[in-house]
Amino acid sequence: MRDERPSITPYPDGPILVRGDVDLRDADGEPIPRNRRTMALCRCGLSSIKPFCDGTHKPAGFRTDD
Ligand code: FES
Repeated sequence: MRDERPSITPYPDGPILVRGDVDLRDADGEPIPRNRRTMALCRCGLSSIKPFCDGTHKPAGFRTDD
């Protein structure tokens, strides 16, 4: 049987991937619509589609700590 628990995975020099059935909400507690089961959340702060990653971290040279 497949593991259905949600998971959160930070990617080196990139976004945080959230997989599974998780409610995503803004700072006011309002739901943020999602259309995919896996979400890539921006952690570089440069995405134009926050809270989602749009790939800008790569050309910006975003680096995470080891
Ligand atoms: S982490 Fe990808 S745009 Fe910010």
